[in-house]
Amino acid sequence: MISERINRIVTSTTMKIAAEAIRMKANGIDVINLSVGEPDFPTPENIKAAAKKAIDNNQTTYTINAGTVDLRKAIAEKFRNENNLSYSLDEIIVSSGAKQSVFNAVSAVVDIDDEVIIPAPYWVSYPEMVTLAHGRSVIVNCPEETGFKLSPELLEKAISPKTKLLILCNPSNPTGATYTEKELHGLAAVVEKGSYYIIADEIYERLVYDTIQFKSFASISNTLKQRIIVVNGVSKTYAMTGWRIGYAAGPEKIIAAMGKIQSHTTSNACSISQHAAVEAILGSQDSTNKMILEFKKRRDYLFNALCNIDGISCYKSEGAFYLFPNVSSFFHNSTNAMRIENSFDLSMYLLHEAKVAVVPGSAFGAEGFIRVSYASSMDNLIEAVKRIKEALLKLH
Ligand SMILES: Cc1ncc(COP(=O)(O)O)c(C=O)c1O
Repeated sequence: MISERINRIVTSTTMKIAAEAIRMKANGIDVINLSVGEPDFPTPENIKAAAKKAIDNNQTTYTINAGTVDLRKAIAEKFRNENNLSYSLDEIIVSSGAKQSVFNAVSAVVDIDDEVIIPAPYWVSYPEMVTLAHGRSVIVNCPEETGFKLSPELLEKAISPKTKLLILCNPSNPTGATYTEKELHGLAAVVEKGSYYIIADEIYERLVYDTIQFKSFASISNTLKQRIIVVNGVSKTYAMTGWRIGYAAGPEKIIAAMGKIQSHTTSNACSISQHAAVEAILGSQDSTNKMILEFKKRRDYLFNALCNIDGISCYKSEGAFYLFPNVSSFFHNSTNAMRIENSFDLSMYLLHEAKVAVVPGSAFGAEGFIRVSYASSMDNLIEAVKRIKEALLKLH
């Protein structure tokens, strides 16, 4: 028998779309995949060279559970230089991807029936991680009109004596919405009145465009910093999703608890990847800077192109590599083959009719929207928009 706890975990509907897209591709169908959550750039050469050197130097054994001293020193330096945050090495832990960092942090603080506030649209794994920790997710719907961002008023309403944790993703997956410093101060004023913890998932920190200046939530106030676990990693910033390196920084006792979990599950993150991550963080940032410029160009193109499609409206998000257009005006429409009632139906329709894969908003707790990734070449984006437009025109 499968445990009751695992039975409560839902298999993501996104997997159905992804599986169908893979099946179609395998059958030779030219599917453009805009459902991707990773940069379409190769890992920069200097980082790959550092990994090769680590292998040649036999740096292939277990490392300290929390991560090598060199990597944690590099991470501490990054926090100091880029975020104006000071952490000792005991306040930092390296994990096998930021996903594990979030999972360890949730497991470290959440007890049975503790409430965890999760603003929606949310990253798909947060509620499931809370369920795995026997906690209860309190989903707060953040409307499109306010950029899908959590407001102090909405946060205040969601807090209860059982609140143990708030998870704030900034910039957001799936919307790309990025909080201004002023907005973070507004949230901090509410958070400071409580005693719950905060996971600040800042994995898309460097991928911000326009004039917005990214600000880490932990840098807003020193008292708040004592309750914040900042999660970050190299996956998105350095096109290193497969290397599996994420990290967390926060109060020593939480980091130690996360270390306990890790020591009995996966132990240290891959030693070779840790060496590569040192180079990623301390080495040349040229490749990342070029990637950011390219993402901005694509975001601008895709935003304008989507807004030019009749029936679509879109919030111009400032970060990550996603747009989250509102497609609800196509619901209750039909084709000869099917009737579209929700974002899942529309995503399936676009996959079959336009041969473009996107993710339904319902997967992120936000019906009425689809997530479109621009981690795909400009040529692909141009062709995808053309196909989406043609497919939507066929609905009536
Ligand atoms: C918001 C968010 N947090 C964490 C992660 C996990 O990143 P990693 O690949 O380092 O595990 C992702 C990856 O999609 C993400 O979108």
